[in-house]
Amino acid sequence: MVDILERTSNPLWRGTQAALMGASATAILAGGILGLTKLDDKLVSRWAVYGAALGAGAGAIFGLVGVAPGPSGAHSKAQASTSVEEATGWRDWRNFVVEHKVQESQEITSFYLKPQDGGPLPGFLPGQFLTIRLPIPAQPRPVIRTYSLSDYAEAPSYYRLSIKREGAPKDLAVPPGVASNFMHDHIQVGSVIEAKLPAGKFVLEVASDRPAVLISNGVGITPMISMAKAVSQHNPSRWLWFLHGARDGSYHAFRDEVRALTERVPNLRLHYCYSRPRPEDMGHYQGTGYVDAELIQALLPVTPAQADYFLCGSPPFMDSLRAGLMELGVPAEQIRFESFSKPAPAQVEREAATNGAAMAEVVFAKSGKTVTWSPADGTLLELAEAQGLDPAFSCRAGICLTCMCRLNDGEVVYDQPPTGTPEEGSVLICVSKPKSAQVVLEL
Ligand SMILES: Cc1cc2nc3c(=O)[nH]c(=O)nc-3n(C[C@H](O)[C@H](O)[C@H](O)COP(=O)(O)OP(=O)(O)OC[C@H]3O[C@@H](n4cnc5c(N)ncnc54)[C@H](O)[C@@H]3O)c2cc1C
Ligand code: FES
Repeated sequence: MVDILERTSNPLWRGTQAALMGASATAILAGGILGLTKLDDKLVSRWAVYGAALGAGAGAIFGLVGVAPGPSGAHSKAQASTSVEEATGWRDWRNFVVEHKVQESQEITSFYLKPQDGGPLPGFLPGQFLTIRLPIPAQPRPVIRTYSLSDYAEAPSYYRLSIKREGAPKDLAVPPGVASNFMHDHIQVGSVIEAKLPAGKFVLEVASDRPAVLISNGVGITPMISMAKAVSQHNPSRWLWFLHGARDGSYHAFRDEVRALTERVPNLRLHYCYSRPRPEDMGHYQGTGYVDAELIQALLPVTPAQADYFLCGSPPFMDSLRAGLMELGVPAEQIRFESFSKPAPAQVEREAATNGAAMAEVVFAKSGKTVTWSPADGTLLELAEAQGLDPAFSCRAGICLTCMCRLNDGEVVYDQPPTGTPEEGSVLICVSKPKSAQVVLEL
């Protein structure tokens, strides 16, 4: 019961709930005691009424001042998630039905997902992602990918994923993106896909009052929408800048959805930067060119180091912004970033600087293969693939946990602590290398 009160933020409603709870509890107790003592009916009902009134009064006082509502940030939502997880039993894969499919731009389409079992949905933290599994014909096994949740509500009735169709790189004769093209071409309203619980640590702390700058380009806008909406609902007086780069209006998803937020949130400032605007885009963007550190310095009324930064976009975009912000004196820990494709280049540089073993024996226990690893073989995932093994993976960046594998013996090293935390006794093979002379993996 206290849990219910803690999740109620309105003090009057909390007091009323507590009063009702107090009244019921006291009336039942009083009725029970008086019934057992065999007093006459009139007296029993009178004392039950007095008891209920007393309970209501005590409950109201307790509800108003005795119970503090949970913070509207991470903690309360984590509690809510846990209770919904318990209520739904959602631990691993759960079926979701596509309720709407909406084209947001030339390349990006949104999918609104509702649980097929009709049960409740856990809340999530702004910036988190969903891992989905797709049975794609012609693929040797279901394809697993991660997509940021691109909308936000404290108690969501649906999850929204907004997916960019990935074409093949211009200079390579390779197939276009497997999962994103399948979603665009074959997943329709009524289709069912599987998803895991929301996860991820690229999260905006909603309750903080520090100015925050959300910077994205392309499909990197998805977690930023969730972050901006969470602030607009829970901490609308916080200073927030929403900076987004797109080629032109036809590539710019969610332009009006984000602009609508600025009408409700007084301290949300928007800046859209188009690199190649079309004549019909006039009036829909605030600058031409690219979002860079110089622009940020010009827009912010505080010194750059007074704000926190959240970056999501193409790796070169994030890398140059990160370097530019650090030149402006922003400490590295105030710059958070999420890469959708591969580790941000700055991270790759750090990886090259750290070392694992010079050489190691790697045993893939289930497959019965033993091979020698040297630094040229790269990560344990790359080594496994080179041996013809087919371990599951998605992000290849230590974020999504898809590649998690039991480590039966030995030690591995992560050049960068992975964003995702593997289970005890398991490792993320996409970002680890052997540290000990022998490593035994349950693969
Ligand atoms: C935390 C997180 C959140 C994400 N959120 C989003 C989101 O909100 N929206 C979104 O659209 N994406 C998001 N992504 C990216 C998403 O998970 C997928 O990586 C993306 O959709 C591409 O998957 P795919 O299967 O379509 O492409 P893949 O099949 O994985 O291919 C990726 C690219 O590689 C190319 N390619 C194929 N073969 C080769 C080869 N041999 N050599 C070189 N290149 C090759 C393909 O043409 C394609 O361009 C997110 C990723 C992460 C890690
Ligand atoms: S593939 Fe995502 S953590 Fe390894």
